[in-house]
Amino acid sequence: MTRYKKNDPEITRRKFINTAVGASAAVGGLALVSTLGGANPVFRLTRDKMPPVPGDVLIHAEGAKSGQPVTAADLSEKLTRAWPQGKDKEGNPLVRNGDPNNILAVYKFPPGQLVAPTNLESTIDGQIVAYSDICTHAGCSVSDDDQKAGQMKCPCHSGQYDPKQGCKVVGGPPPRALAQLPLKMDADKIVVGDYFLTMPYPFLHEEEWEARKKAVEDALS
Ligand code: FES
Repeated sequence: MTRYKKNDPEITRRKFINTAVGASAAVGGLALVSTLGGANPVFRLTRDKMPPVPGDVLIHAEGAKSGQPVTAADLSEKLTRAWPQGKDKEGNPLVRNGDPNNILAVYKFPPGQLVAPTNLESTIDGQIVAYSDICTHAGCSVSDDDQKAGQMKCPCHSGQYDPKQGCKVVGGPPPRALAQLPLKMDADKIVVGDYFLTMPYPFLHEEEWEARKKAVEDALS
């Protein structure tokens, strides 16, 4: 037997509100799950998908030297694309191209041309610098095709970045600079000195980026 009178208008009103709130919460929850699911589909952090890790070697991503280590002599004021190369569990070389967002833009500028907000301590001799090559607006690969030396433009919505100034946004819709990747020399190879200084695309929240770095550290330890 029900505890409430079916014809009690107050009970009916409360039941209606509770039902509506419950339905709304359910729909909202589904929408949230759907949104999160869309943004973060089931993801397994395999080594080829890890973001650049300290010690990774930069290797050419395209052109005649594709797959070979990037050297200082290979670089110029034109964009050179590179992948970070780490190691698999057996210690064999493993290119981290399982996540296309790991593609990098590498430059070498004449002395004195790299200026703030570039983090000069994270460059090689204040001349060689690397950034994520993925646009912070919607994830296209940024290019320097048809651009003057030292200028970058995104082909999707014309976002522009200045690689001499920390790849800050100088035009178009991108919300933030391309993330700078610390570098150092190891003999004649260019290697990753540390994780990206700021969160790269597709991360939207610092906590997510910090969590990803921790997951990488845990997986590699
Ligand atoms: S994706 Fe680069 S400007 Fe939109």
